[in-house]
Amino acid sequence: MRIFSGIQPTGAKHLGNYIGAIRQYVDGQDRGDPAIYCIVDLHAITVPYEPAQLRERVLDTAATLLAAGLDPARCVLFRQGDVREHSELSWLLTSVTAVGELNRMHQFRDKSSAQRELVSAGLLFYPVLMAADVLAYRAHEVPVGEDQREHIELMREVARRFNARFGEGLLEVPEGRIPTVGARVMDLQEPTRKMSTTGGSAEGTIYVLDEPKAIEKKLKRAVTDSEDPFTIRRDPATKPGVTNLIDLTAVARGTSAEEVVASLEGARGYGDLKLAAAEALTAMLVPVRERYVELRADEPALEAVLAEGAEKARALAAPVLADVRAAMGFS
Ligand code: AMP
Ligand code: TRP
Repeated sequence: MRIFSGIQPTGAKHLGNYIGAIRQYVDGQDRGDPAIYCIVDLHAITVPYEPAQLRERVLDTAATLLAAGLDPARCVLFRQGDVREHSELSWLLTSVTAVGELNRMHQFRDKSSAQRELVSAGLLFYPVLMAADVLAYRAHEVPVGEDQREHIELMREVARRFNARFGEGLLEVPEGRIPTVGARVMDLQEPTRKMSTTGGSAEGTIYVLDEPKAIEKKLKRAVTDSEDPFTIRRDPATKPGVTNLIDLTAVARGTSAEEVVASLEGARGYGDLKLAAAEALTAMLVPVRERYVELRADEPALEAVLAEGAEKARALAAPVLADVRAAMGFS
């Protein structure tokens, strides 16, 4: 089972990234043969960015992933821009990708309407590069959060169309792996919106590297509801805030949502739920933060991990590209 996933090099990863994606990456290391994880700096240039900061953000992200439990001996961790096969396959795949499909992607619609100046062609082609990331390794499984479902569907379609046009079995049609709990962590202040670096509220976003005090404060102020008398139960439609807190606590404790609800039977109000969430989440995140500080301080070591990962990644992608080029009529 070959596993592949990608994550953007933004400095501060939030709880949605951690629960929806990073935790799954760590689990995947034991199942993956291999598990391949890519920091997608080529995707980062589709919106305005600072060249001088890009490398720093990549290292921030690498250190976060290692602190969360990725082990370079048990996975392939690398930077997308180091492996040219991604760019090359991306262009080759444009021949079997419809502009209409790209134009309909929700993420493109959201991100393009948020741009003040230039809506880059890269933003439209973002899902093609993402398809190339996965297809270049003939990966079977792609762990992501709920918001990537549409992109996964598209890459499956691109792979099928490529195989139908150039030869069955050339590319693997991958499956998304979306967690059952925590696939869509909601903003604490606006619990009907997903937690996000760009779209969310600062108060409602918990970062993996937040100090325990900040985590407690944000949870204390989390929006719940005014049901009278208060009830602690899961109901995403009418109680999004409470549901989010229950789910977060369940994931952090490693138990089910039902068990969290049962454990709060004698609660005196939503304050007790917030306290339980704060306790569980700080216990989960404090060790990650501590390891991060140590790892981030050693840039040469981080660069060495990424360089070694890139070499392994190239060795995996090169034969796939050779097959693709030959099937498409290149020498
Ligand atoms: P990004 O930082 O945009 O590259 O996202 C990295 C991963 O985090 C992707 O697999 C996303 O699907 C996942 N993700 C982002 N936001 C959330 C969220 N609020 N809840 C769950 N997963 C998320
Ligand atoms: N688009 C993904 C996100 O925003 C990141 C990503 C890039 C990715 N390439 C990928 C995820 C390949 C999975 C597989 O989160």
